[in-house]
Amino acid sequence: MTELNSNESVDSSGSFRLLMSYVFADRPLFIKALLLVVIATGLDVLGPILGKVFIDRFIMPDDYPLWPIVGIISAFIITTVLGTFLQYQQTLKFINIALKAVLDIRKRVFSHVLKLPMAFFDKARTGQLVSRITNDTESIKDIYVQFLANVLSNVILLIGILTAMAILNIQLMLIALLLLPIVGGLIFIYQHFSGKIVAKSRQLRSDINATISESIAGMSVIQATNQQQPKLAQFNEINQGYYQTRLQTIKIASFLLRPAINLLSIIILVGVVWVFGRQVVEGVAQIGVLYAYLNYLGRFTEPLAEITQRFSLYQQAMVAGDRVYKLLQEPALVQFPNHGAAIEHGKLTVRDLSFGYHQDQYVLKKININIQSGDFYAIVGHTGSGKSTLLSLLLNFYQPQHGKIFIDDHLLPSFDHDTLRNGIGFIAQEPFILSSTIYENIDMGRSLGQQAVEQAAREAHLDEVIQQMPDGYQTQLGEGGLRLSTGQRQQLIIARALAGSPKILLLDEATANVDSETEQVVQKALNRLRGKVTMIVVAHRLSTISHADNILVLDKGELVEQGNHRELMRLKSGVYRSMYELQRQERKLAQLQA
Ligand SMILES: Nc1ncnc2c1ncn2[C@@H]1O[C@H](COP(=O)(O)OP(=O)(O)OP(=O)(O)O)[C@@H](O)[C@H]1O
Ligand SMILES: [Mg+2]
Repeated sequence: MTELNSNESVDSSGSFRLLMSYVFADRPLFIKALLLVVIATGLDVLGPILGKVFIDRFIMPDDYPLWPIVGIISAFIITTVLGTFLQYQQTLKFINIALKAVLDIRKRVFSHVLKLPMAFFDKARTGQLVSRITNDTESIKDIYVQFLANVLSNVILLIGILTAMAILNIQLMLIALLLLPIVGGLIFIYQHFSGKIVAKSRQLRSDINATISESIAGMSVIQATNQQQPKLAQFNEINQGYYQTRLQTIKIASFLLRPAINLLSIIILVGVVWVFGRQVVEGVAQIGVLYAYLNYLGRFTEPLAEITQRFSLYQQAMVAGDRVYKLLQEPALVQFPNHGAAIEHGKLTVRDLSFGYHQDQYVLKKININIQSGDFYAIVGHTGSGKSTLLSLLLNFYQPQHGKIFIDDHLLPSFDHDTLRNGIGFIAQEPFILSSTIYENIDMGRSLGQQAVEQAAREAHLDEVIQQMPDGYQTQLGEGGLRLSTGQRQQLIIARALAGSPKILLLDEATANVDSETEQVVQKALNRLRGKVTMIVVAHRLSTISHADNILVLDKGELVEQGNHRELMRLKSGVYRSMYELQRQERKLAQLQA
């Protein structure tokens, strides 16, 4: 497992910077939103002051002049209505910022994932990755909505209230100020207890995703091997764990946050009423000031409670942000200075190549190969000898630990991605079919044109089959669409490889499920390309490559024999010869049984 799976701590300086960069991405929008908050808060805070004026100026002296009273009531209505309207506008603006940010972060994460080296995907779990790109980016939205819209506007509201209190009576303001450090302390304690649990619950949630998506992908295997019960048990355990951690976070939050703050504010309230009440009785303070102050104090704890409550959301979002940030920090494929040329000849040179998926565990050892353009090379060897691995390296999927690969005398990594993709056709051991149309499955986003696609299908002997399908080339494949047979799938990916008119063709022969008819199709396609395209074919049935220009024999990652069929058969105790004899006997046996 990769780092993705480790228990993350909440060290978020990097992710914080990333998130902040989005806040200021659309500066005018942010400034507008901020201005709206300030104005809306100002209007909001004005209410109690108007009330105070009303009490001290009109009610207490028992004097009710018509026009001033109409004025003050109208002012009250206008500030309330306008304040509410601006509040709404401000929320819209912040949500806009948030959604824009998520849109962009998601795009960035996905395009980064597309650039990651194959080695990353060997270790990552699909479900977890999916959860990074969807759930975690969604949680990041919470940072913006909850944090920006809520915390920011509540902080501004606090400042507004404190200012209004100071205008009323500075001593009273100072008493209210006492609340702040206490709440700060509460948040600190909360963060201390909940941080790790929040991280753990996120991890468990992504484990739930991973388990589900793995199970669905491998459903036939699970049912065939009767793994339903163990899988269910495994799932239940994770699910139960998630429930427990969620419960824990809620327990901590509901104990520490709002109730504690409410209690505090009541204590302060009682104290203030006691002290202030006496002052009023003694005629020092005005009764309107007390009204306004109590009004403010009631609302003072509101933003504090909001902030602390949002804090848990904020915390979750920060953890998510952290994980997305980590994913973005995964090093992408190393790209060498690009020389800009296309693959012209298809000459291939492998020099002193050693490679292991894990350090010090070499799967390929000191391989040297020289392939002239137009040559037909075969790679054979027992299962696990490193044949597919060698092809992966020729495709620049992995970085070899030692040695170099050249195409047309240029270093392999110095070709840009598109050039390699267009210049090298690859027919993988396990065909991968997109859930899309046949056309798209051959074209693969390369915009090759109808003609090239149809030509390739003809070469792979698939054209006729496609013509008979209801929607022809627009027939939908994959999930919810048509299911091709294994042989047809093989033909489809041959067409895909040929469509780009590659200079080099790499073919990893399927190990099983290929009937002799499909095999002949592959043979015919290869024969037609012979001499025009450099071909490297990994073969399991040696009969299919006996006419190759050169056969490379791999044994436990080492290149042990090399030559054409006749040369290799001359080696009395050679690996190739023994493999060939074995397959011949197997064929004979099969014929006898038939
Ligand atoms: N993605 C991977 N991560 C780690 N180890 C791998 C990976 N792919 C292959 N290996 C290991 O590398 C070795 C060579 O595997 P490779 O797939 O190249 O063999 P192969 O010759 O193609 O076998 P086959 O004939 O069965 O297709 C094997 O021991 C295998 O376990
Ligand atoms: Mg293989």
